[in-house]
Amino acid sequence: MDSIKTIAVTGKGGAGKTVLATLLIRWLAAKYPGEILAIDADSASSLPYTLGLQVKRTVSEVRRDLLGKQQAKDELNAAPTRNVMKKILTPGPGFDLLAMGRPEEPGCFCAVNELLRFGIDSLIKDYRLAVIDGEAGPEQLNRRVIKNIDVLLVVADMSARSLETAAGIIKVARSAEHGISVRRAGLIVNRVRGDEPLSDLVGKTGLNIFGSIPEDDLLNSFDRSNRPLLELPLDSPVPLAVKTILERALSDAAARSGVYGTIAIVPYGNTL
Ligand SMILES: Nc1ncnc2c1ncn2[C@@H]1O[C@H](COP(=O)(O)OP(=O)(O)O)[C@@H](O)[C@H]1O
Ligand SMILES: [Mg+2]
Repeated sequence: MDSIKTIAVTGKGGAGKTVLATLLIRWLAAKYPGEILAIDADSASSLPYTLGLQVKRTVSEVRRDLLGKQQAKDELNAAPTRNVMKKILTPGPGFDLLAMGRPEEPGCFCAVNELLRFGIDSLIKDYRLAVIDGEAGPEQLNRRVIKNIDVLLVVADMSARSLETAAGIIKVARSAEHGISVRRAGLIVNRVRGDEPLSDLVGKTGLNIFGSIPEDDLLNSFDRSNRPLLELPLDSPVPLAVKTILERALSDAAARSGVYGTIAIVPYGNTL
């Protein structure tokens, strides 16, 4: 298989998408410093906090300027999208962060999502790999914000509803009609406690498990004291679990064997 260029994280709200995305970014930035693009595509925007970064400018703000004063509008329209997006990147240790921010317009985020899509498309060439912390649910897949996904990690906690959402997302990713290309997708079960019958619960959804992450109180204490998850000790259970997931996601053999519940979906390049 060709090299992995995009890893997108999705799932129900609160399932652990940002935790997983943060730690994927951390491992990847250590492996390929300066070659990783982190994308906060969630309007609820928590990735900057877990990465310990202050974002100065977001895609939503660029969009607002485009709607605003004529001068700002003209300047933005004259510049190639790539340059505009490059300027709003926030540098982190070994990676750059592009943040969608909170759209002010109520209802549909279509316009901002579209600009985000242009941003991702124009920036991605400059990086080895992009990790996308997506919005909850399948909407961004539906709207093709992220068109070419090499690895889609669908996070669910141990609740039946979260697994249901995950199953729904994987269904969208599987159906070619949405015009997105997902090379592999896998279910990540989060907040697993030792005594839970994991396979029973997941088995009911018909999904296979790609990886799991244990429940760890250390995360709660980091959250409570507003400490970036980037500072979690690398030898603690959650970062170690994410390392295993990453190794599997990047491994060809695992994809071919199918033992980890990877689902080959739409053939690569099959986009509208
Ligand atoms: N494995 C875990 N152990 C303990 N707490 C967790 C774990 N995964 C997530 N959490 C906590 O659950 C909350 C939601 O996680 P988050 O990654 O922000 O979810 P999402 O991005 O899917 O909305 C956070 O407070 C986080 O610290
Ligand atoms: Mg989140």
